[in-house]
Amino acid sequence: MTTHHPPRHRILALSGSLRRDSHNRRLLEAAIRHAPGNLQITLYDDLADVPIFNEDREAAQLRQGGVRRLREAVVNADGLLIATPEYNQSMPGVLKNAIDWLSRPGPDDPLTGKPAAIMGASTGRWGTRLAQAALRQTLAATESLVMPAPMLFVRDAEQAFDNAGELRDPAMRESLHELLLAFSLWIERAGTTAVRSMSNPHANSSFARLASNQ
Ligand SMILES: Cc1cc2nc3c(=O)[nH]c(=O)nc-3n(C[C@H](O)[C@H](O)[C@H](O)COP(=O)(O)O)c2cc1C
Repeated sequence: MTTHHPPRHRILALSGSLRRDSHNRRLLEAAIRHAPGNLQITLYDDLADVPIFNEDREAAQLRQGGVRRLREAVVNADGLLIATPEYNQSMPGVLKNAIDWLSRPGPDDPLTGKPAAIMGASTGRWGTRLAQAALRQTLAATESLVMPAPMLFVRDAEQAFDNAGELRDPAMRESLHELLLAFSLWIERAGTTAVRSMSNPHANSSFARLASNQ
């Protein structure tokens, strides 16, 4: 008798905060602990090594060091899980800078057609609503496949986690779990129906080219 194992998806988790005690890192660590069995989530810890984008130095920096490591990690992942804080009603520069690097053409094309799920934690009352909207818009420009829902906004982040790093509110824990379950379905769809049905081989986009080569 053969046993059927569901596919295991490798997820790269990116935190928009470099802070050691970051609430967004905590949220990703909670996601890692509570991930459904078919998601293997790994936290990317080296965003601080990605230089500030400067087009004059792009060619030299694209294929080495922190940029190369980040791009390879994204290429090798089946999906991205991003937790962003909110800085001045948008995403932090660290995250935007990383996405700008990932969006550049190179030997690989890390973001085109890449499934992504976003969430966020902030100490404010709106729980990163505006940061996530900005992130969604930026990822749309890169032709990533951003899951539209469910969304997760962790507000008042200083009170949201207990000492073990768990979300205190059971409804919030449930929402995180639902987001991860939905993401595994989203990745499976993105690999099949979404790529075929959303693609228009006549459109002038990297995504359309990727899809028509499948
Ligand atoms: C420069 C800066 C701007 C901020 N602007 C906002 C904001 O517009 N809205 C908000 O809810 N929180 C804002 N905050 C608070 C952050 O969301 C909060 O510090 C959050 O915990 C940072 O995420 P982290 O814990 O993952 O580092 C701001 C913080 C900084 C440092």
